[in-house]
Amino acid sequence: MSYEQFRGRSLLSWLDYSAEDINALLDLSKQVKAEAKRGEVKQRFLGKTIALVFEKRSTRTRCAFETAFGEEGGHPVFLSTADIQLGAKESVDDTARILGRMFSAIQFRGFSQDTVETLARFSGVPVYNGLTDVYHPTQALADIMTLEENFGSGGINLCFVGNGRSNVANSLMVICSKLGVNFTIVTPASLVPGRELTERCAILSAASGAKLRISDKLDSVTDAHALYTDVWASMGEEDKKAERRALLSPYQVNSSLMKASGRSDTIFLHCLPAIKGEEVSAEVIDGPQSRAWDQAENRKHTIKAIMLATLGLAP
Ligand code: CP
Ligand code: NVA
Repeated sequence: MSYEQFRGRSLLSWLDYSAEDINALLDLSKQVKAEAKRGEVKQRFLGKTIALVFEKRSTRTRCAFETAFGEEGGHPVFLSTADIQLGAKESVDDTARILGRMFSAIQFRGFSQDTVETLARFSGVPVYNGLTDVYHPTQALADIMTLEENFGSGGINLCFVGNGRSNVANSLMVICSKLGVNFTIVTPASLVPGRELTERCAILSAASGAKLRISDKLDSVTDAHALYTDVWASMGEEDKKAERRALLSPYQVNSSLMKASGRSDTIFLHCLPAIKGEEVSAEVIDGPQSRAWDQAENRKHTIKAIMLATLGLAP
């Protein structure tokens, strides 16, 4: 399989990628993971540089990009927006032009989707969305990889419970609609995903054969292969914590909700970081059904695959 069609592309959202593209990246992620497990040492990023621009905090995304790129001879540079000129003394487009002259690629994590899109427009190098208020695409690829490791591909029912309009829920809705994964969001009416995105995903789901459902009823978890949740208040929503706790407490993923799937093999997924006792009980996330730690590891393999393909370095 050739990865040539990925060369030079950015990853801003999965909306710009076909199911074939996403499946090719999943295959490459599996190869990359197998190489890592065999202890193979490669130098595919030798001579390359990546700017890792962060407006918000990160553990997994930063570490995944930094280790995946650095261990293969590349030079990652962490740039906190508390230190660089971006957004303070310099416009996003000028910053993009400068970073594009010095780096082979750029990762951006921050608030506005417009910022990551502007970086892609003006830098001339691949730009990766490492989370904005709207999307978290690199997370969603690792999530699908984890689902496929447990259930293979085809006929998977994924159920997201909690804040149905979070960046993670949005990206899962897009990737599942593209890939034909049945996706249910269980959330109160006031937290359903935005109408425009939902309508786009309904069209994509009809084409891929995925069943897309949005419901405020907890019994919609029936037959789920995986229950997935995310924090109730995302970064940037700190003022909404109390309101969300009141609204979402009935939607906690706990042992009784896991049982409500009616399947004995249901797994638990979480993008992390988690607040144990809020969106998930400690018993579930630390218990035998949890795959949250595999999911976190898969962030690195999938991110390496995305960088290899878009930098034209995949086999
Ligand atoms: N899941 C995730 O993106 O984690 P970090 O915020 O630690 O990067
Ligand atoms: N929705 C969460 C995801 C963290 C990885 C946030 O944006 O804070």
